[in-house]
Amino acid sequence: MEACTQKASAVVGLQWGDEGKGKLVDLLAPQFDAVVRYNGGANAGHSVVVAGERYSLHLVPSGILSPGVFAVVGNGVVVDPERLLEEMKTLSDRGVDVSKLVVSDRAHVVMPYHKEEDALREELLSTSVSEKTESKGVIAAIGTTKRGIGPAYADKVQRATAIRIGDLLRPAILREKLTMICSMKNAIFAALRPDGHTAFDADAVADEMIALGEQLRPMIKDTAYLLDDVRKAGGTILFEGANATMLDVDHGTFPYVTSSNSSALGMGPGTGVPPQCIGRIIGVVKAYSTRVGGGPMPTELFDSVGDEIRVRGREFGTTTGRPRRVGWLDLVQLKYAAMISGATELCITLLDVLSGEDELKLAVAYDMPEGRTDRFVADGYALVDAKPVYETMAGFSQDITGARTFDELPAEAKAYIKRVEEFVGVRVGIVSVGPDREQTIIRD
Ligand code: GDP
Ligand code: IMO
Ligand code: MG
Repeated sequence: MEACTQKASAVVGLQWGDEGKGKLVDLLAPQFDAVVRYNGGANAGHSVVVAGERYSLHLVPSGILSPGVFAVVGNGVVVDPERLLEEMKTLSDRGVDVSKLVVSDRAHVVMPYHKEEDALREELLSTSVSEKTESKGVIAAIGTTKRGIGPAYADKVQRATAIRIGDLLRPAILREKLTMICSMKNAIFAALRPDGHTAFDADAVADEMIALGEQLRPMIKDTAYLLDDVRKAGGTILFEGANATMLDVDHGTFPYVTSSNSSALGMGPGTGVPPQCIGRIIGVVKAYSTRVGGGPMPTELFDSVGDEIRVRGREFGTTTGRPRRVGWLDLVQLKYAAMISGATELCITLLDVLSGEDELKLAVAYDMPEGRTDRFVADGYALVDAKPVYETMAGFSQDITGARTFDELPAEAKAYIKRVEEFVGVRVGIVSVGPDREQTIIRD
């Protein structure tokens, strides 16, 4: 096996999503030959601002905005074909060249019944919450994006009822499979919602999927080979993480997570690129914490400080428009996420949003029923009991959106960054002070 001369790089979120991964990927993409998504689906919402123009990307890798770079939807992604085509059209209508977009034939398809199941499960879960769990601050529903992500990944693991992108190009087999699948799904839906379910018609679903497959045909490829070809030709690859480390199905705040390995650990299985070929891993960290949907968040703010940060940071979801929950930076959580994702470097984003706060708090330990700990509790039920132990630092009030070097930042902002580095044990190489490409500080 030949050695990897050109190691791949990665951008991965170290909190609960929306750290500004899209902005960073867009900034770095021109230095790479391929940008590849390895997990998640249209639950992701990556906002990129180029020369004042805002683009919202969900399934299409953010590298698409860099002409000439392959934008690869890897096999680990769950693809809603209709949404993908819509997103491509919106981009093309705005003058973006989408000719370098490729989709893995092994990516799984989010089918119409997956979206229905996602919404139905959330509805049933939210009405079955017990008083005991509710009083602990845990809600029974996950608060998903209702994009069909969980049910699509569940079918992938179930195997027999799964449809992959490549299957859309085999109409006869697809029709036969859908007859079997729709009869199973309809029986389940009918049992779960006896009075309100419209049955899925296998033929109609097949017609729709075959037509969508035909539109996608030119971009469907064996992307494991494509990425290997890129590497063999001396090219470089950038992984674009979706969702984030704390939403990882194995290492996040389960069960309040997404359904894929959304930490850096998902890169290999989600693309076919072997682990020894991955080098630089940039962990993206928002200067405070946010979370959308249910599940514990130890440093959550319920006061006017939280409201101020939400408004200044425009903390409303790119995908669902939901207001994001806001809290102080949680160093216990962050150090754990950097460990799980193997961050070799950190990028702190939205630092400008903290300007105006008199003091900044950082969680450095948790008080748990068993005592004080500096270790993260990667369990959604146990974490509810974590009471953060804060360290307080002086805030800053200057507008830092024009800063382009580390030295131009106020002393308090520099001290805040240095404290993060010291606690996590990973260097902050990049600081983002605004949504635009230019509003970035690259440290030497
Ligand atoms: P992603 O899912 O990790 O790509 O992040 P989102 O795009 O969902 O959310 C990040 C939001 O913050 C977007 O609206 C970005 O345009 C914006 N953003 C990114 N970096 C900065 C920054 O440094 N400062 C400010 N004020 N906004 C930023
Ligand atoms: P980006 O890539 C923020 C959250 C949902 C929900 C949970 C499960 O933009 O950072 P799902 O629909 O995946 O089954 O929902 O995960 N979630 C995200 N939160 N940013 C994301 O992506 C997210 N992707 C999933 O809100 O709590
Ligand atoms: Mg987002």
